[in-house]
Formats: sequence, C-alpha cells, structure tokens
Amino acid sequence: RSPSMRDAVLSDTYSETAELANIDWENLGFAFLPTDYMYIMKCARDGDFSKGELQRFGNIEMNPSAGVLNYGQGLFEGLKAYRKEDGNILLFRPEENALRMRLGAERMCMPSPTVEQFLEAVKATVLANKRWIPPPGKGSLYIRPLLMGSGAVLGLAPAPEYTFLIYVSPVGNYFKEGVAPIHLIIEHELHRATPGGTGGVKTIGNYAAVLKAQSAAKAKGYSDVLYLDCVHKRYLEEVSSCNIFVVKDNVISTPAIKGTILPGITRKSIIDVARSQGFQVEERHVAVDELLDADEVFCTGTAVVVSPVGSITYMGKRVSYSDGGVGVVSQQLYSVLTRLQMGLIEDKMDWTVE
Ligand code: COI
Repeated sequence: RSPSMRDAVLSDTYSETAELANIDWENLGFAFLPTDYMYIMKCARDGDFSKGELQRFGNIEMNPSAGVLNYGQGLFEGLKAYRKEDGNILLFRPEENALRMRLGAERMCMPSPTVEQFLEAVKATVLANKRWIPPPGKGSLYIRPLLMGSGAVLGLAPAPEYTFLIYVSPVGNYFKEGVAPIHLIIEHELHRATPGGTGGVKTIGNYAAVLKAQSAAKAKGYSDVLYLDCVHKRYLEEVSSCNIFVVKDNVISTPAIKGTILPGITRKSIIDVARSQGFQVEERHVAVDELLDADEVFCTGTAVVVSPVGSITYMGKRVSYSDGGVGVVSQQLYSVLTRLQMGLIEDKMDWTVE
C-alpha cells in the first residue's frame, strides 16, 4: 500500500481483504455505481502535484467560477482493473493513460501528474475499492481519472488551481446490445472535431459535442454515431465513444491519428494484437465508400472493448455485416485482447500491471 493510502484510510473501516460488495454481479451494465473511496490531489497553476489522498467517495465542492465549469478546462481518462481467479488484480497499460493525460494537459494549459503519480494514485484507488472489482468474467472496475481547472477565473484564462481526481465504478458491457453487434448511423451535418482543434485529446468538451447527434441516433434506434472528417466529409473519423476498424480480406484498416481522432489505447493494442495474429493493419484515410464492400467492421475503446458492428446507415442506405452475427475477425481480436487483460494468456508485451 502506498503511504498516501495508508494515511488516508487508517482511521476508516477499510480493509484490503474485504468481501465482494453485495450487488447483482450478473447484470452489470455501464452505469455509475458509487464505491467507497476516491483519490484527490491538487496543485497551483505554476506548481507541481505533490501529495494526494484517498477520501471517502462523495460530492466535491467547487467554486462556481472554476475554470472547468465555465470554460471546459478539463480532461478525463478511462482504464480498467480486472480481478483474476487467483485474487490478483490486473491493470491494462495504465502508463499509456498517464502519458495521454500529460499530452492532453499540455494542450489544455494544465499541469498534470507525473506518470509515477498517476500510477500510484490509480493503484491506491483500486485497492481501496477492491470489493467493487467484479468477480472474474463478470466485468471490470472502470477507473475514471479527471484533471480539471478547479480554481476560480472570470476572464478567459487558465485556472489558478487544478484538481486531479480518480473515482471508480464496476462495469459490464458498454452497449445495451451486450456483446451483440451494434448499429451505427453516419452523421454528415454535425462534426466532432476539426483540424487544429482538440479532437485528439480526451477533453470533456469533445464528449458534450456529440450528445446531440447521439441522442437523435438513439431516438431512431441506432446504437451510436460514426463521424466523418469535417473537411472532405468523406473519410471515417471515429464513433462518439470509440475508434473504428474496417476489415477486408486479410487487411484491417483504421483512420490514422492526425489530431482529430482520439489515440485510443485499445485501438493501439488491437493494431499490435492483429499484426501478431497475421493481419495486415493500415492506419490511413479510410473512405466512407469502403464500408460498402467491407467484410466486417468493429469498434474499439476501453469502455466498449471490441464491439462488432452489425450495420452502418449512411444517407438512408443501410449496409449490414456478418449476417447480423459477430464477425470472425472481431471475435478473434476480442478474445485475444480480453484474455490478455484478464491474465488468462501469457502477456508477452508486458501490458498488464499487477
Ligand atoms: C472509454 O472508453 O474509456 C471512454 O472514455 C469513452 C467514454 C465515452 C465512456
């Protein structure tokens, strides 16, 4: 246990050997469930983060003039912890989240925790909430680090104070479809990101910007929205909450990272897994027309893992994949990735952290 965690929990009822929380582990979706502890660390605009602490989970107080509330100066991350049969807990590539948060913080004019601070904080938060990590095979503990301008500003400027906070929630499948294929609609009026904008960092505003199109799509029965680039309105970008891959024969293509697409850690991992499985993977412009004769399409993300796409609708025309079932490539990649994440196969890449 890290010293900060020991300090924070000594006077509490917390115990690392606590039993599993008493909830219905069979029916976890992707909805917020309060857990026991959250981690908080603060620093001044020109300072460094130093000592953070675990606190009982609960509401936080913020000045109504906080930079994050008024000007959206905020970032978030998402990663997962899995419980193994032997009782150990695995994190998947947490240092990648730490590095991505540092890059995003630079773009949003915020100080950020070091990679070591980020990892320590994640480990402390997960251990303190151990009883909320689902049993093996029932889901995972979703870890949500936030970085936000919590100091008061009125004129537009970076906030004078920053808060790094981590909370966690047990989760199952992201889409209500479960592991069944999702149905996407391509949006051609509204855009998620622009060249030179912040589409490539995990800033909170990117997610608010997609809610309108997503709500409209859901009202029509679609699972989510696939965005096109805003310049040519021709190349695939990403889905509201995940990256996209297109399979044709032995080649798997995905939009290249050029500042408008989130550099997903699952995306990056799937590219390596697919190559190790003998597929050719291309990161490039993927034209919307290529969806017409693709063999399979799937999405990747921490929350969605690998989600097969059953159909995509564009300008009123619907293209279906894999006869409504899960495509063989999606299934293969899902299986290798999740077995790695759960510690069921050898981790030759050294991606998991105990
Ligand atoms: C994740 O996949 O972890 C994300 O941050 C996406 C979010 C919309 C759930």
